[in-house]
Amino acid sequence: MSLVSIIAIDGPSASGKGTVAQRVAERLGFHYLDSGALYRLAALAAGRRGVDWDDETGVASVAAALDAVFAGERVWLDGDEVSTAIRSEAIGVGASRVAALPAVRAALLARQRAFAQMPGLVADGRDMGSVVFPHAGLKIFLTASAAVRAERRYRQLIARGEPADLAAITAELEARDARDRDRAVAPLQQQPDALLLDSSGMDIDSAVAQVLDWWQARSSA
Ligand code: DC
Repeated sequence: MSLVSIIAIDGPSASGKGTVAQRVAERLGFHYLDSGALYRLAALAAGRRGVDWDDETGVASVAAALDAVFAGERVWLDGDEVSTAIRSEAIGVGASRVAALPAVRAALLARQRAFAQMPGLVADGRDMGSVVFPHAGLKIFLTASAAVRAERRYRQLIARGEPADLAAITAELEARDARDRDRAVAPLQQQPDALLLDSSGMDIDSAVAQVLDWWQARSSA
């Protein structure tokens, strides 16, 4: 078993897990893995190469050969900065489609595990605690009601100056949740050993504080 400390944070879209995971990583001086970004990159790279999102073998070979570089919140694909491009709603839908393909998930597994470096890692996604880091020292299922998540996504888009329609965002979020939850491989679900954190009525600081408290309790146990 590795000595690297791992905190796995899983949850649905727009639950705030990315922000919470990043802040927890900063506070602890740990590395951070945004696993959703890898699925987003695979979808974007496939699209750019003319590979259909349903072509399992094609997307898997694109995913296995991803030329991706991460630096903080910035991401490059094939030397081209794609930090904003991977966050679009269209790429989010593509990521959710390619993430349902077992060969694509297998192609990204080793790359995700390679983020586990000393002194520790905070990883966020859908299957961090179940598949990628089943021995994580702390597993959290971070969620919020669909209405709260849709509202957060709506405000993010408006802040970025992108067009946003709350009803459409809610419908898309529910469709994406269903796709992530009902797929055969690595479905989104709370693991029996994961602690539930419902951030519906909580701000980011309180969610971060709760994760740090749980980590403290585990580390000193
Ligand atoms: O967290 P996100 O919205 O950036 O993730 C984009 C998509 O990638 C999401 O619909 C589900 C998929 N995903 C996954 O299947 N497994 C992960 N560990 C992370 C993301």
